[in-house]
Amino acid sequence: MSKEEIAACAKTDAEVLQTAQTGVYNEVVTFTDGKKHTVQTIKTKLTDAEGNTLGVVGIGSDITDTLERQKQLQTLNEKLQDEVKLQVEQLREKDKILQEQAKLAAMGEMISAIAHQWRQPLNALSINIQNLDEDYLDGLVDEKFIEEFIAVQTQTINKMSKTIDDFRTFFQTDSHKRIFSIYETIEHVKGLVSAQLANNDIKLEIEGEDFEIKSLRNEFQQVLLNIVSNSKDAIVANKCEKRIIKFVIDKSQNKVVVCDTGGGMDASLLPKIFHPYFTTKEQGKGTGIGLYMSKTIIEAHMQSTITAYNNEEGLCMEIILKDI
Ligand SMILES: Nc1ncnc2c1ncn2[C@@H]1O[C@H](COP(=O)(O)OP(=O)(O)OP(=O)(O)O)[C@@H](O)[C@H]1O
Ligand SMILES: [Mg+2]
Repeated sequence: MSKEEIAACAKTDAEVLQTAQTGVYNEVVTFTDGKKHTVQTIKTKLTDAEGNTLGVVGIGSDITDTLERQKQLQTLNEKLQDEVKLQVEQLREKDKILQEQAKLAAMGEMISAIAHQWRQPLNALSINIQNLDEDYLDGLVDEKFIEEFIAVQTQTINKMSKTIDDFRTFFQTDSHKRIFSIYETIEHVKGLVSAQLANNDIKLEIEGEDFEIKSLRNEFQQVLLNIVSNSKDAIVANKCEKRIIKFVIDKSQNKVVVCDTGGGMDASLLPKIFHPYFTTKEQGKGTGIGLYMSKTIIEAHMQSTITAYNNEEGLCMEIILKDI
């Protein structure tokens, strides 16, 4: 022990003698191998039967290793905290990218639906315009003809413009909840994709007793659109003979079940269906975000549940809704 160490020990001994109280002291002691150790000592005053002070006794144990381990543990904890912070930040970043991609996917879905809805009126416009010079040559074009021509074409153009408006409100995220009818919401989605379904010879049926819910209507519509779009893809890809997407509304359980006749999916892949980027579609046809986003909307935004299962004919999505 060095002189300073002996002095420090003597000082705590004096303290014990003076206060007559048992104390615990951490003292640094240089051992014979030259290394400094921390010794924790319990010191108490020693007296004889008459109460005369005999000195100080102490029991010490070397806690150098324990202290070292505590220090290591603390460093490890700090490192872990930093790591967790980093991971959380990375997750947030990933989530942001996913949200952006989901928006893009939804836009793509919208543009494709508009394109389908526009095909028929665009054809009609094109044919009518092409026939105009023949009508003129045939001597059919007079004032009345022109008035009628303008009226018919304007009607078609208005219909096309309405399609865009429908979709514009459709993709706005709800800032607040409202009460809406499940049946009407499904009907609205059906209207938006009617051309796509008709082109592919698919029927969309709705059964059951309607109910109302207080929640986020637009976001719920996006979920329904994702589901219908997947069902359509499955029916088309598998060239199914029976081509039906059926909604069953169950008022007693606040439940909506959508089943299709698209053949369903491999049971081993079913648990992955809601994972981000999970897709079985070829590149350019699917991003694997549709159902991930749908689950986020249903569970995180609408505090409800969505599950997927196969039945004999295809895939079913079950949504149990809660007022929020
Ligand atoms: N009705 C269905 N029938 C069969 N398989 C389905 C059905 N719905 C979803 N799937 C499977 O789940 C996968 C994930 O669906 P999800 O909607 O998340 O992504 P996606 O349709 O592939 O791409 P997108 O991001 O464009 O929607 C699909 O690729 C498909 O394999
Ligand atoms: Mg999809």
